[in-house]
Amino acid sequence: MLKEKVLKALNEQVNAEQYSALLYLSMSAWFEDKGLPGFANWMYVQYQEELTHANKIFKYVVERSGKAEVKAIKQMPADFESVLDVVEKTLEHEQYVTELINNMVDVAVEARDHATQSFLQWFVDEQVEEEANVTEILDSLKLIEGEGKGNGLFMLDRELRQRTFIGTTQTAE
Ligand code: FEO
Repeated sequence: MLKEKVLKALNEQVNAEQYSALLYLSMSAWFEDKGLPGFANWMYVQYQEELTHANKIFKYVVERSGKAEVKAIKQMPADFESVLDVVEKTLEHEQYVTELINNMVDVAVEARDHATQSFLQWFVDEQVEEEANVTEILDSLKLIEGEGKGNGLFMLDRELRQRTFIGTTQTAE
């Protein structure tokens, strides 16, 4: 049985992951509109991944006999200043999610809930990868900015087109 504080934190995280999913779907739509299908694809895969994160926590709550909650999701932004702006906001958002995950681990430790601590370790590791992936794109973009965009942006867009969603490993079930 989950303690009240742990249950609350997990349910709030389901909502945060669902928000993340829709934020990235919104970014994907923005990239499509700007004629950057590779960036749009990368964001769409990100959207799919975030849904698996939300569902993974949802299922864990149910498995531990907790009452899973489905809450309203706040409005996500739809307009951005530039490609760089979107990628910077993505990194900021992932850093924020890392904070949320770390806070959840603290709650689980305080509650002496070892099962939840163990469950959350996957998310702790995932955040390292999430931040690294976005940082890599951000670094490439900054290089391109220094070289006068055009061709570099086209090449990066082509590269990001290659990303595919791998459901089974992302859910790690
Ligand atoms: Fe579910 Fe991108 O963290």
